[in-house]
Amino acid sequence: MILVAGSANIDFVTRVEHIPAPGETVLGGNYSVSGGGKGANQAVACGRSGGEVAFLGALGHDGFAETLRASLRESGVQDHSLTLDLPTGAAFISVSEAGENAITVASGANAGLNPEHLGDLGGVTHLVMQLEIPLRSVVAYAQAARAVGVQVVLNAAPARELPPQLLSSVSLLVVNEGELASLVGPGKVRAQLRRAADLGPARVIVTLGGRGSLALDTLAPVEHQYVEVPALRVQVLDTTGAGDTYVGALVTALSEGQALPQAMHFATTAAALACTRAGAQPSMPTRAEIEEAQAGARP
Ligand code: RIB
Ligand code: NA
Repeated sequence: MILVAGSANIDFVTRVEHIPAPGETVLGGNYSVSGGGKGANQAVACGRSGGEVAFLGALGHDGFAETLRASLRESGVQDHSLTLDLPTGAAFISVSEAGENAITVASGANAGLNPEHLGDLGGVTHLVMQLEIPLRSVVAYAQAARAVGVQVVLNAAPARELPPQLLSSVSLLVVNEGELASLVGPGKVRAQLRRAADLGPARVIVTLGGRGSLALDTLAPVEHQYVEVPALRVQVLDTTGAGDTYVGALVTALSEGQALPQAMHFATTAAALACTRAGAQPSMPTRAEIEEAQAGARP
């Protein structure tokens, strides 16, 4: 069983001609309201892609919490989230014509997910986390999971400075280029991956957007340690949630015992499909859709 512990946000999404600069006002058209938050997104991506998954998060007493719980439920996610006396987290997202986004998150209840909220880890094989809940909770959960042999997967997003004791409890780190640079400084990407692995995680994956993803797997024989998976060419509508889809589908595949390169291919296909549709959770593909796209992509 996969446990995702992290944020849940209600996403307010507006399409704009371009992302506003500081001091600028940009007019958009309609807006949509849907399930988001990197934690809930990754749980939904796991569930839709066929993983057995539970979600631990913190929601408010409002109607937004109901929208989020419904999305989790409909995606086959066991909902272990708490209800706190705070507003449900909210994300204000602008999506440009090029499909790129800028996001402001009001943490609300997510800030109340505390170290003592991690329940029993019996039956959990993989713990998946991101950085939209308090760092001390991420550290405490990672250490508790590591201590009982649970694989800890950290998507270090959004970029934050990390305490050293966190990465030493992580077995798989997934980051984008900006997050990787903020962890280990600038450099050639393979050297950056090596530096990240030196901080603790045996496996590190960097997602490169339209250029696919690259992994360093220090558990593999030396000649197979770098794994490069190209992106799938798709018509990009909205990249929101694509990174979360990648992480969720990746962990589903790993939890089924798939090897890292196969799991990366599965995740790449899932993320590509999420880029072709609007929003975060509404854009995440089912297992059948991912397998169909994989079959279509084979030569
Ligand atoms: O990764 C995308 C997510 O980031 C959005 O759903 C938004 O809620 C923010 O957490
Ligand atoms: Na999307």
